[in-house]
Amino acid sequence: MGSELLFLLACTRSAPVPTPSEPAESAAHIPVATGHATTVASEGLEADLAKAQAFYASRPEYEQPLGTGLTPVPGLPDLSADTCGACHTEIYDEWKVSTHAAAWTDPQLQAEMQKSENRWLCRNCHTPLLVAHEQWAVGLEDDDVERPLLVDNPSFDASLRDEGITCAACHVREGTIVGPGLATPDAPSAAPHAVQADPDFTSEKVCTRCHQATATYPGKSFVCTFNTGEEWKAGPYDEEGTNCISCHMPPEDRPAANGGLERTVARHWWRGAGIAKHAGVHPPDEANPPGLELEAEWADVGGVPKLTLTATNANAGHMLPTGDPERWVQLEVVFLDAGGETVGTWDFRIGQTWEWHPLPKKLDDNRLAPRATRTFQIDVPVTAASAKVTASSHRMSPETVAYHDLGDYPISVVTHGLFVTPR
Ligand code: HEC
Ligand code: HEC
Ligand code: HEC
Ligand code: HEC
Ligand code: HEC
Repeated sequence: MGSELLFLLACTRSAPVPTPSEPAESAAHIPVATGHATTVASEGLEADLAKAQAFYASRPEYEQPLGTGLTPVPGLPDLSADTCGACHTEIYDEWKVSTHAAAWTDPQLQAEMQKSENRWLCRNCHTPLLVAHEQWAVGLEDDDVERPLLVDNPSFDASLRDEGITCAACHVREGTIVGPGLATPDAPSAAPHAVQADPDFTSEKVCTRCHQATATYPGKSFVCTFNTGEEWKAGPYDEEGTNCISCHMPPEDRPAANGGLERTVARHWWRGAGIAKHAGVHPPDEANPPGLELEAEWADVGGVPKLTLTATNANAGHMLPTGDPERWVQLEVVFLDAGGETVGTWDFRIGQTWEWHPLPKKLDDNRLAPRATRTFQIDVPVTAASAKVTASSHRMSPETVAYHDLGDYPISVVTHGLFVTPR
């Protein structure tokens, strides 16, 4: 593979490996990332902040940071998750193993960010408070996202950055803690810090701010494409009153803070597919079931033995899989003879297919819409006596792992295993 390919990436991921029909030489016509960042002189914190905020305000909503984190919250020494965790210990323990907590330390994100000067963009979703950015963007040269004008942030807080999508990213807005509003007439809030109830806090808007973004950048070989919000709206769950929070933050009767009154308090796991970002660290299975329901039956179809596989998106409120365009669900069958030897195999990939060069383009999409079912009638080899059927969720291909030099980064989980024999 030519080293020219190292200039390719996708905002959200990348699979820039040439297919056999596209030899590495074709890399010559790839519009390589020619961008460079320019650090401009500081005019003082106030002026720099004003410039940065004006710049971000001119950009689409999903490119904007989520607040500054610069104003102290009365009652709290600082905004770190560790501080919140001293009182909100259960919530903290859930968040700590979530993908949100790993959104900055994610080795794949780190690898991708080395490959383009578009990384100012990544920060706005992956570590979204301005105080967590080493530098602020104050403009772009020629409107090119890979040629940002940056200014050093004197208030930069590295530990808050490393917490990724930390408590404060969702809950802190200039000088106060926003939440769903726990107080009732009988049980007023016992919070030792400023609190403001926001009726929108249980709406999908808290999530789609980052999970709904579809952007292409003219001439660039990366895209930002997360369509989860629209997929959910198009399916049955929106009308049924089931949103992102209902499924990904299910309620549990417990105190919201150590030693407090029992309330209805959301889990903070956001499991999704449950593929770890750091080996062994992921929310427990109970957080949410796999999206897929899989059934297999060995039956006679007009005198011919067939293995019938039924794959249903039974539990995901959006496409299965959703999010990053490189995710897929793999179905596999291994037929065994009476002696346990493999006598045939079958597999099927459920996901999107993208071409990344010369410019990103979606070629195919066979994902399962919410509650949609797909049935497969698979030929059974004559000597087969049983079949092992598995399903697994994948985040990226081994080729992309190698391209980013990610070593033994976890990339998949097995979700289903069935053993089928003739009836
Ligand atoms: C609009 C907000 C947004 C921006 C901007 C953004 N991301 Fe993401 N990113 C997300 C969301 C949401 C997910 C979760 C989707 C998923 O895991 O499938 C994600 C997931 C990822 C993942 C993990 C993918 C996986 O399959 O686990 C990587 C790596 C990543 N982003 C890299 C980047 C890089 C590099 C940039 C900057 C060039 C960037 N992102 C900019 C919102 C964003
Ligand atoms: C010294 C203990 C303490 C610390 C530190 C603390 N909290 Fe709280 N917080 C509480 C208590 C107590 C409540 C009220 C619980 C109740 O009334 O049931 C609360 C309430 C909340 C609520 C609910 C607000 C509402 O009514 O909607 C949120 C959200 C919250 N805290 C977030 C945070 C975050 C984020 C941090 C860290 C930046 C933090 N807290 C730090 C003790 C603390
Ligand atoms: C500030 C941006 C942001 C907000 C707000 C946000 N997310 Fe995320 N979310 C992300 C990013 C970025 C990732 C992936 C991080 C990575 O893989 O590096 C992610 C990952 C996830 C995952 C896990 C995917 C996996 O398989 O591990 C789920 C589930 C999820 N988010 C659900 C939600 C829900 C529900 C909400 C609303 C309550 C929400 N998110 C709010 C940015 C955000
Ligand atoms: C991705 C956004 C996000 C992050 C990160 C996040 N929360 Fe929340 N939090 C929410 C949402 C949404 C709710 C409201 C859920 C509901 O009431 O259905 C909530 C509710 C709460 C509540 C009130 C109890 C409840 O469930 O209504 C507390 C307290 C709280 N969060 C503390 C924290 C702490 C502490 C952290 C970090 C360890 C944290 N949150 C991280 C989105 C977030
Ligand atoms: C009906 C319940 C339900 C609703 C509603 C729902 N989700 Fe999910 N979501 C799931 C399940 C189940 C999975 C696990 C899918 C799997 O097995 O990979 C999932 C997976 C994910 C993932 C990880 C990518 C993947 O395909 O595994 C992200 C990110 C996500 N959801 C975000 C959201 C956001 C954002 C919303 C709201 C717009 C939302 N979800 C609404 C149930 C739901």
